[in-house]
Amino acid sequence: MFFKKRQPKNQIQLEIDMTRIPNHVAIIMDGNGRWAKARNLPRISGHQRGMEVVKTITKAASDLGVKVLTLYAFSTENWKRPEDEVSFLMKLPGKFFDTFVPELIANNVQVRVMGYVEQLPKDTQASVKAAIEQTAQNTGMILNFALNYGGRAEIVSGVQTIAAAVAAGQMHPSDINEEIISQSLMTSSLGEYADPDVLIRTSGEERLSNFLLWQMAYSEMVFLDEHWPEMDGEALKKALLIYQSRHRRFGGLAENMSDKK
Ligand code: FPP
Repeated sequence: MFFKKRQPKNQIQLEIDMTRIPNHVAIIMDGNGRWAKARNLPRISGHQRGMEVVKTITKAASDLGVKVLTLYAFSTENWKRPEDEVSFLMKLPGKFFDTFVPELIANNVQVRVMGYVEQLPKDTQASVKAAIEQTAQNTGMILNFALNYGGRAEIVSGVQTIAAAVAAGQMHPSDINEEIISQSLMTSSLGEYADPDVLIRTSGEERLSNFLLWQMAYSEMVFLDEHWPEMDGEALKKALLIYQSRHRRFGGLAENMSDKK
């Protein structure tokens, strides 16, 4: 007699489809402060723990075959935070790269940074520059930190570049199109992967907070309740499973997916 093996509903194991891993995953790493507060720890402990989680998630995303992982590490608005918190956040790239570059190299991960880097403290700029140089030959996942980045500021800078080209007679206003605008933004070096396929935001907040405003026109949004310091490879997989359950239509119809973009 044969018995059909049945799994109870709450134990159904959903497997991630490795053929549909998003190329570009962008993450708003939120909730470090709340995680720390819930443990009676100073906010900077949350950021310290958050930095360790960046290592875990980088490794997990690279193992899954993500091509670009963009992490919102510091926004142009984060300068408004208390001075000691800002100063700790500015030390994090150095701490991260000091301990993690060998592993990034071992995993063939290439570091990039986008944002107004020239406004960062000199030692932060030096750490970032060194990590970019040390990993420049790597051909695997791009780990792209948004540091002193703001979506509106980026669009303003891009418009200024385009306007200067028009003023110099190198371009006619009617030449300006979506492609030209994309190329004027800080993600232009990511080429075909410039626009995130999915945005993940942790800690229950559901807003964009000035992140990749132009690039996320068609991104799927996945909001998780976990605070960033609680994230791990399994939670990343959960977010990607949610992404894979969505039907991206890019303004078209579901059955007409070949028309996408
Ligand atoms: C938002 O949480 C988090 C930040 C502003 C900083 C994020 C930085 C890291 C996770 C570490 C970065 C690591 C490197 C390598 C640069 P929040 O402080 O706003 O949390 P809250 O909303 O609970 O207060």
